[in-house]
Amino acid sequence: MSDTRLQFHDVQALYVPIALVVTALVYGAVLLAIVRYRQRPGRTPSSRSEAPVMESIYVLAIAAVVVVLVTQTFRHEDKVDPVKGRPALTVDVTAAKWNWTFAYPALHRTFHGVNERPTVLVVPAGRKVRFHITSLDVIHSFWVPDVRFKRDAFPRRTSTFDLVFDRDMVSRGECAEYCGLKHSDMGFVVQALPPDRFAAWAARQRSAAARSPS
Ligand code: CUA
Repeated sequence: MSDTRLQFHDVQALYVPIALVVTALVYGAVLLAIVRYRQRPGRTPSSRSEAPVMESIYVLAIAAVVVVLVTQTFRHEDKVDPVKGRPALTVDVTAAKWNWTFAYPALHRTFHGVNERPTVLVVPAGRKVRFHITSLDVIHSFWVPDVRFKRDAFPRRTSTFDLVFDRDMVSRGECAEYCGLKHSDMGFVVQALPPDRFAAWAARQRSAAARSPS
């Protein structure tokens, strides 16, 4: 995988100008039609019903835009999706109505969400973290806006992705798929710690797990 924010930025830098040009053309055409071809006394409507050349140009232009957007989107997605190499940490994510569970197999620790109190996902900054994500009930979506990354959690299916949180930060995560009454409360907190502080945290979790296995 590569920097999710960079990939997102590249795709956005392509979509936004195209969207602005299309918006300008559509509103421009409507305004032109209103001003220039409005009804006036003594003027009859044009009897022309077809404009094959102009229409062919529209079709080709639209097809070209679609081809560029689709190929560029998949090209960037192909840079984000691959899962390879050895991660520094593996976290099993389980979504359920309406909270998140983060399990750390290597630390023998599992953190359950409690309603109103978001689960905290602690990760080492700058290291590759591998996530396995699933759901216990309906479709949820793991979304961390700060790293521009979103992945759906499906029941009876596990998907895997790698993420790197490139700096130490505390960030908010959300469920991005409508999943019932408390969907909007289904947040979590991401805490990316510098590697030495993460190692200290992991050591504390290991000894806590030794005292009371979860
Ligand atoms: Cu879970 Cu929305």
